[in-house]
Amino acid sequence: MTIDATEGGSLVQRATVLGGGTMGLGIAQVLAVAGIDVALCDASPALTRSAMERLRQRTRTQVEAGLREPEDMDRVGSVRGCFPPEDAVAATDLVCEAVPEDLPLKRSLLHSVSGAAPTETIIASNTSSFPIDELAEHVHRPQRFLGLHWFSPPEWVPGVEVIAGSRTAPEVVHDCHLLLRRLGKCPTDVASSPAFVANRIQMAMFLEAVSCVEDGLASAEQVDEVVRSTFGFRLPNFGPFQIADMAGLDVYLSVLRTLQDGVGSRFAPPPRLVELVEQGRFGTKAGAGFGEYSADEGDQLMRYRDTRYAAMSRFLSKPLISDGSDANA
Ligand SMILES: NC(=O)c1ccc[n+]([C@@H]2O[C@H](COP(=O)([O-])OP(=O)(O)OC[C@H]3O[C@@H](n4cnc5c(N)ncnc54)[C@H](O)[C@@H]3O)[C@@H](O)[C@H]2O)c1
Repeated sequence: MTIDATEGGSLVQRATVLGGGTMGLGIAQVLAVAGIDVALCDASPALTRSAMERLRQRTRTQVEAGLREPEDMDRVGSVRGCFPPEDAVAATDLVCEAVPEDLPLKRSLLHSVSGAAPTETIIASNTSSFPIDELAEHVHRPQRFLGLHWFSPPEWVPGVEVIAGSRTAPEVVHDCHLLLRRLGKCPTDVASSPAFVANRIQMAMFLEAVSCVEDGLASAEQVDEVVRSTFGFRLPNFGPFQIADMAGLDVYLSVLRTLQDGVGSRFAPPPRLVELVEQGRFGTKAGAGFGEYSADEGDQLMRYRDTRYAAMSRFLSKPLISDGSDANA
């Protein structure tokens, strides 16, 4: 959904984060640093206290490393520990559920907190994989419920998948976009299905990475190095369709046929790719592929690519923390 970021974005002033683990702490930190009044709740009073301590320690470490402003320590210091969850959501505009990926646990917690929260509260699950409609069945007011899927570590990774269920009200999606933009995040709407978009693609890559090791092509370390230094280098700038268009869809088709013959039917070229190649839509070099490219647009894209890649090369060649011996530092 395209949202005008100037429309507002201050609708959420109070938020409750359920679960103070890897994700919940980062989400609580992002919300608190943006000036939102945050309550944090874990599975017991003692676990909530320990989560609060870890949140402060994590922020202190980042401030000391120069990664955050010193004022962030005060903002994070204002986060309140609260237990039980029903009390923690009693006066809040937004609930971010980030408890373990356990379906009965999420269902039962979402049921009880959606019953205890004010009627206008938005309830968001950070589930990595459960379809939102399956969770919505257990939520009071499913029109105020959706998935907000943050990525680890949530304080740094910009992307958040926004997953509406079939009964989620459009204004809830709209308000979440505004909030996420206000937090400096990049929200993208995706449909509800198992594991959504990012994890589906990430897991497909992971399965192939494991297969490469099991087939004896390379060690895990070597696979990591190949991914990081080859197509991983492109990914901060371009997605798979833009990359395929720039590489040439005829090339992709040929590679997939070789993989299909040599490795297995899971690499069978998709009909859409075959069709595009049959139509002569080979990508940017042909003026069309998955996208359309006028001569000017093609040239602009190449300039953009080269500028971004040159900047990435410079950035990656510099050590971030000088060991005192590097001439590039
Ligand atoms: N770890 C990741 O990389 C990642 C990325 C994106 C999404 N997610 C999703 O985020 C959610 C949380 O993952 P995580 O990695 O932070 O898990 P985690 O195990 O690190 O933290 C979960 C926290 O929830 C607490 N908890 C358990 N029961 C609770 C209850 N009833 N009430 C309140 N708190 C409770 C636990 O004590 C723990 O502190 C999961 O749904 C996961 O799939 C994880």
